[in-house]
Formats: sequence, structure tokens, C-alpha cells
Amino acid sequence: MKIAVAKGDGIGPEIMDAVLNIFNANGVALEYQFVDMGKWVFDQGHSNGMTPEAQKTIESLGILFKGPMETPKGKGVKSVNVTARKTWNTYANKRVFQTLHGVDTVFSKAGIPIDITIVRENIEDTYGGIEHMLTPDVALSRRFITRPGSLQVIKYAFEMAQKKGARRITCGHKANIMKITDGLFLEVFYEVAKQYPDLKADDVIVDDLCMKLVTRPDAFDVVVLTNLQGDIVSDLCAGLVGGLGFAPSANIGDHISIFEAVHGTAPDITGKGIANPTALLLSGLTMLRHLGFMENAASIENALLYTLEQGVHTGDFGDKSKPSVNTVQFAQAVIDNFGRVPQHGMKPTLPNKP
Ligand code: NAI
Repeated sequence: MKIAVAKGDGIGPEIMDAVLNIFNANGVALEYQFVDMGKWVFDQGHSNGMTPEAQKTIESLGILFKGPMETPKGKGVKSVNVTARKTWNTYANKRVFQTLHGVDTVFSKAGIPIDITIVRENIEDTYGGIEHMLTPDVALSRRFITRPGSLQVIKYAFEMAQKKGARRITCGHKANIMKITDGLFLEVFYEVAKQYPDLKADDVIVDDLCMKLVTRPDAFDVVVLTNLQGDIVSDLCAGLVGGLGFAPSANIGDHISIFEAVHGTAPDITGKGIANPTALLLSGLTMLRHLGFMENAASIENALLYTLEQGVHTGDFGDKSKPSVNTVQFAQAVIDNFGRVPQHGMKPTLPNKP
């Protein structure tokens, strides 16, 4: 099986190399077709941030594993990432946030386990960037929420929640104020909920949701939101489990899916070789499971969990009194720990079914 890989900008190539080394060492039977995509391609005059060859390759292979990409600055210029999601209608952004032992947070120290999946609508809302000045003193932004757009992401969230064996699915919204737009999203949520009587479906107003997530994160399981609110709530959840270095993301569409870390290009540490590859590795594990490489995903994840439990850490997390390792050393530690069993959260080994 072949997938498209774009290493990205900034720390992208450093963390992508680390993750692909781990995949190769684990014998993942994937071939990689590297494609030209990112800010540097945009600078060469390709306004969507990718060459026509890259676009063709991604469209024929159906899977893109990508590093972070810098958003070009300036008015009228669109983010490469947002363009890619729209071009291929990857309408559901799935982000899994789990307690990782060895990554200290206030919740892990208090023994409160977190396992929250955020499903964020990925195409609509204010992300069309349709804004203009109504008068010199009044700026106007347009927000689109459609029934078909809401339906496809909410259906995905329910299907995924059922497969995950979730106990609860929650719609986060602000329908008390945006009665028409968020009202439509909420209406569709409860329409879809009728088809899944075994799942407990409820809704929480987004500000209350934020408060509840930081006080009782263990009460939530799957949460589905519109684009902008989902973006903000996702980063809040990343903070609950240790920060952006541990936040993976999958952009799911019917024909093309994109797997990437939530974090950006980290320009402040680019080229130093110290970036944390965990978020990209976790995104890669989601991709392996999506493609049916269950055995590889479990083997790598168990080695990662064991490595974190041993206190191996890059400079952005972990016990500061213990020396940190660099990106390459972190990846090597994971490889060296293949076959080891973590004390917490061990993943069962299912057979590969690519
Ligand atoms: P950022 O996520 O790149 O960095 C925020 C902070 O987190 C920095 O201090 C950085 O050093 C740290 N950090 C991020 N990832 C890390 C890692 N793997 N290991 C260790 N530390 C890490 O956010 P920022 O600075 O706002 O954005 C930089 C660029 O990235 C911008 O051009 C932005 O548009 C782009 N970006 C791209 C994304 C994507 O490709 N999906 C997502 C978010 C931002």
C-alpha cells in the first residue's frame, strides 16, 4: 500500500523522519510517495501550496500523512492546511486526547483518567474567510452552517463513537445565541441521535462545556462541534493531556483523509533537532489503524507508552531534573522498546488487515 507524505515546513521534516524511522523499524508494509507541499511551494508561485503533481498523487493515493505547514502571511492569502481540507472535503476533524503516563498534568497527578475524542466540523462556519468592512468602523464576517455539512460530520461522529464503544456523545454549541446557525447544527445532531438509541446523546453550551472539561474531563467521551468552537475546544483538551506535543489529528473525508499533528511548525525550535515527535507519531498510529495496520499500531503504541513511562522525554515536557533527549534519540528509544509492555493503557494486539 502506498500513501502520500508531505514533510512540511519548520520542524516538519525532523519529526516526519523520526516517525517514518519508527514505522520502518516496525516493518510497517507501507510505501511512501513524497510530495511537494508547504510554504516553500507557495513561495514558488503555487497559490494552493502544492504542485499539480502533488495534488494528482494525493488524489490517486487517497491518504496524506503530513507535517505542519506554515501559513503564508498577508491579506487574501489562505492557509495551505485549510485549502487542503477544503479541496478534498475532509469534513471531520477527529482529535483524540488521552492520559499518557509519564506526561505529568494536574489530572494525571490527581489520578483522573482522560479519554476524550473531539470531532470538529472541518469545512464550514467562519473558515470561508468571507469578511469585509461594512463601514470604516464596522467589520462583518459571514458564517455558513449547512444541513448536509452538519449531517456528514455528525453521522461520522456517531459511527465513530459506536465503533469506539463510547458511553456518551455530546454536542457542544452556542445555539442559545446563534439560534439559526448553531440551532441547525444542534437540530441535525438530535435527528441523527435517533438512529443510535444505544448511545447517550446530550448537548452542552460551549462556554459551560469549557468549564466542565477543565473540572470534570473524565465525564466526557465523544464531543462534536462546529468548526471554530471545535478548534478552540480541541486546544483546551490538548492542554488537559500535556500540551500540543501530544495532540494528534485526523481529517477524514469520503475519498481522501489527511493525518497530521495539531501543532504548527514551531519556528522557535526549528533546526535544533529537539522537537517532540509524539503528536505526529500518534497521528500516524491513527492512520495505521484507519488503514488496518492494527498489529503495527499496537506494537508501536505500546513501545511509546513504555518509553514515556520510563521518563524518556524531549525538552518540552517531563521531569526537568532529568536530562532530555533529542528527536532522533526519542525515536530510537521507542524503537528499542518494541515488544515491551507498558504498565498503563496497554493496547491489545489485533491482526493487520490492510
Ligand atoms: P506552533 O504549534 O508551531 O508552536 C507553539 C509553541 O509550541 C512553540 O513554542 C513551539 O516551539 C511549541 N511546539 C509546537 N510543536 C512542538 C513539538 N512537536 N515539540 C516541541 N515543541 C513544540 O504554533 P505557532 O507558533 O502559532 O505557529 C507556527 C506556524 O505553524 C504558523 O505559520 C501557523 O500558521 C502554522 N500552523 C500549522 C498547522 C498545521 O500545519 N496543521 C497547525 C498550527 C499552526
